[in-house]
Amino acid sequence: MRIGVLCSGGDSPGMNAAIRGAVLRGVDVHGFEMIGFIDGWRGFHDGEFIELDRPTVRGLSPLGGVFIGTSRVPPWQAPVTPEALDALRAKMADYGLDGLMLIGGNGTQTVSSILWDAGVNVVGLPKTIDNDLAGTDYTFGFDTAVSIASEAIDRLRTTGDSHRRCMVLEVMGRDAGWIALHAGMAGGAQAMLLPEFPESLDQVCAWVANVRDRGRSALIVVAEGFKLEGSEDAVTREGLDGFGRPRLGGVADMLAPLIEERTGIETRSTVLGHVQRGGSPTAFDRVLATRSGIAAADAVLAGDWGKMAGLRGDRIELVPFSEAVGKLKTVPDARYAEVRLNFG
Ligand code: F6P
Repeated sequence: MRIGVLCSGGDSPGMNAAIRGAVLRGVDVHGFEMIGFIDGWRGFHDGEFIELDRPTVRGLSPLGGVFIGTSRVPPWQAPVTPEALDALRAKMADYGLDGLMLIGGNGTQTVSSILWDAGVNVVGLPKTIDNDLAGTDYTFGFDTAVSIASEAIDRLRTTGDSHRRCMVLEVMGRDAGWIALHAGMAGGAQAMLLPEFPESLDQVCAWVANVRDRGRSALIVVAEGFKLEGSEDAVTREGLDGFGRPRLGGVADMLAPLIEERTGIETRSTVLGHVQRGGSPTAFDRVLATRSGIAAADAVLAGDWGKMAGLRGDRIELVPFSEAVGKLKTVPDARYAEVRLNFG
């Protein structure tokens, strides 16, 4: 059995641990040959890959990023055609591959699903710091991002309090506000603004003023995809990402002067950015990623293709792609309502 591993989309802490888990089980226990494509589909198209074996993955678990690289280079030019799928199958045959392990988020697992429907053997490993992939309770990378964002809140809190300022922290979260919700809860933020739940500027300012009236300084966490009530689009930076989507960012910089103007409270913004995606994964993410890799290798051995190694409770389960793609796992109303009652 010869398996190709590739990563697609933004990196996520734990990707190295996932590859290590898959290789330790796949190569050492099941006797597979495994190769890793460099920079995702780019390496697949260009014939750039490395053999994966035990020495190659030594000591990888605590390392952030991903040693074989990842990219948003697509597997084909959309829309997918039968010819593009034939070309991909032919390439797999050239590499001598019996199947693929695809490590990625929603976009990547959508590709996995298309490939599986076209008869290509694929197993998915779910990752994204945004935690917005359906079919799994958590994705590796999320816990690390939340820990980093929580620490940032703790740090902003002390300087904000000293100057009696309102601090606005922007975290990642394109379509789902999981990082903002969990980091805000962990850090005791006075409001979390999420992409799923637009709020008015009046409401945000009322929360900030209320905090001041209680003798405290407000700390607001805002997800990059948050929209003020009545706004059609999230705040974007120049340019498009590798998937052709507008690059998000800047909502904290947009909100801070508006809050200051309306409330008279000096307000500062911080954009946490890629710090959330970098560095060593938490122990939770290392364990989740390693278990995903092991489960993916076991699925290959069992011929259980067409599935993703998702976390359900404390078990890693093989979830059909059809249950994971085509929908995002957003923050449910009840989770927002649970915290919103205490905003301000
Ligand atoms: O999809 C994960 C994510 O972290 C999003 O929250 C964010 O919009 C995006 O990646 C940014 O990624 P990049 O800067 O690599 O394009």
